[in-house]
Amino acid sequence: MVRKEVLSTRNFKFMETEIGTDIAKAKEILERGGLVAIPTETVYGLAANALDPLAVARIFEAKSRPAFDPLIVHISKFKELYKYTSYSDIQLSDIANGFWPGPLTILLPKSTRIPDIVTSGSDKVAIRMPAHPLTLKLLSLLDFPVAAPSANPFGYVSPTTAGHVFDQLNGKVDYILDGGPSRVGVESTIIGFEGRDMVIYRKGGLEIEELEGVFPGNIRINDFSDSNPSAPGMLKKHYSPGKKVRLFNDEVKPEEFNSDKTGFLRYSSPINGFSHQFILSENADLKEAAARLFEGLRYLDKQPIDTIFIEFVPERGLGLAINDRLRRTLAEE
Ligand code: TXA
Ligand code: MG
Repeated sequence: MVRKEVLSTRNFKFMETEIGTDIAKAKEILERGGLVAIPTETVYGLAANALDPLAVARIFEAKSRPAFDPLIVHISKFKELYKYTSYSDIQLSDIANGFWPGPLTILLPKSTRIPDIVTSGSDKVAIRMPAHPLTLKLLSLLDFPVAAPSANPFGYVSPTTAGHVFDQLNGKVDYILDGGPSRVGVESTIIGFEGRDMVIYRKGGLEIEELEGVFPGNIRINDFSDSNPSAPGMLKKHYSPGKKVRLFNDEVKPEEFNSDKTGFLRYSSPINGFSHQFILSENADLKEAAARLFEGLRYLDKQPIDTIFIEFVPERGLGLAINDRLRRTLAEE
């Protein structure tokens, strides 16, 4: 993409954000405290030097993210886990070894190296090793980890392509590293430990069934969230497209709705008579559905309709993470 100077309506110049695959450039920007959107297997992240509080502050500013909502720290080597967290008697190494790099974030007591702005003052830090070759390469060249939330304005749908990031953060991020479409498509699963239990704080790209296979103890799901900032950062209303979103179930009669003004996000089959539809997976494959979920919400948001009907997918495997996101798009506040 060609770099252009654009004169905004507020009469100041901003640089149109460049999209590319230049790791050296991304490295240089991060080293001087700038923002780079990075590809991961889950969604694109908006990255800055996690050890530089000023750089991290720019993330909050670019996303219009409230300061009470903490950021995930991304690493590329196991030894960094010991550097940036401290933990005692949990079988963490096995878990991290088993699923990293991959869509798993672990909440652990933070070391003093991590600035408070990253964790919004909490004494725990969320940490993960993403599974994307470009980003792993970039991280391995840096001598600091990066803090990165999903690269979308606060409350909106997460980006799964470089183009999605550009659409929403053009001019607010210094570079977009293009690693192609995100393979998993929903954010990482967030876990932590309370006593002897493993707790799942966010259902995500790593299936709970996989964790059950390696963790002998009790696994609890604790992803209930409201606007209480002390609950691990999961707000009830999230992933909101701009249009009215309603749940489609047996009680809704499609014929009562204007076919030009109504869109459908469907799991595997279309509804007759409506042209604005997005099918998540014609083969009813939950992995494919997860990978296409945010694309579908964005697509429908751009259509000339006023209402989007969504339906839940089967509640198993990645369906748990998909339905969680759908519930949040439906939430009133
Ligand atoms: O897949 C992912 O996790 C993506 C990619 C870019 O890595 N990142 C992502 O970040 O989804 P974000 O900020 O959009 O969501 C992270 C969630 C937020 O709900 C945040 O509140 C929570 O994790 N979180 C982060 N650090 C935390 C902490 N120290 N304590 C509690 N919750 C935390
Ligand atoms: Mg997010």
